Amino acid sequence: MEFLLDSNMKENVSILPIVGIGGLGKTALAQCVFNDEMVSKNFDLKMWVCVSDDFDMKKIVINIIDCAKEKASNEVSLEKLQIKLREKIDGKRYLLVLDDLWNEDPEEWLKLKYYWWEVLEEARSL
Ligand SMILES: Nc1ncnc2c1ncn2[C@@H]1O[C@H](COP(=O)(O)OP(=O)(O)OP(=O)(O)O)[C@@H](O)[C@H]1O
Ligand SMILES: [Mg+2]
Repeated sequence: MEFLLDSNMKENVSILPIVGIGGLGKTALAQCVFNDEMVSKNFDLKMWVCVSDDFDMKKIVINIIDCAKEKASNEVSLEKLQIKLREKIDGKRYLLVLDDLWNEDPEEWLKLKYYWWEVLEEARSL
């Protein structure tokens, strides 16, 4: 909680992984935090995305944008989606939960991380 409410981290992206075996209560814990009133007040935008088995970048990004209450389904390329995502999170303090992330391939992780960086870099230079 303290981690999420720390206002000194405005400029940066902070990642907090919750790891554990199935049925431990990770989703329940994340939901508890996600729905917390103080946490809600502290973020302009909250997004909850179920990643599931197939780590499909495009699907994940579309889901994120959908969470931000924007229709994304008609966009085709990851580049176009990136622009849309940028518009959504620009200047906002946001909380993004990626639930049920089972993929252990660091390559896939890096891809998503770089993609997110690109979104942020462009947003800052606009
Ligand atoms: N603090 C708690 N006290 C009692 N029951 C709990 C608690 N946290 C979670 N549970 C229950 O345990 C079950 C599993 O919780 P949850 O779905 O959050 O686990 P998970 O770690 O996300 O599992 P998975 O890795 O399979 O997604 C649920 O039925 C939930 O209601
Ligand atoms: Mg879960």
